[in-house]
Amino acid sequence: MQSQNQQQNMQSNTNQNNLSSNLRNVSDEILCNDLLMTEKYVSGAYDTALFEFANTNIRQVLNHIQKEEQKHGEDIFNYISSHGMYMPE
Ligand SMILES: [Fe+2]
Repeated sequence: MQSQNQQQNMQSNTNQNNLSSNLRNVSDEILCNDLLMTEKYVSGAYDTALFEFANTNIRQVLNHIQKEEQKHGEDIFNYISSHGMYMPE
């Protein structure tokens, strides 16, 4: 029984090591591009939602949130740009 537990622990450690090395193989560039696409999508969703409301206060709240999403996108862009991952055409 002890031996079986040890084997399970070893297998668990192996799985964790595989997971860690997989995460290490994901480059900054891929992660940043994914984050940027997500920010664009979320920003667009808030923009679309804003048009669905008649209440000015709600529109202002959604507009404020959308501006925050645009700022997130800018921050990610600045990170990409400052780390040499942005290639202007
Ligand atoms: Fe965001």
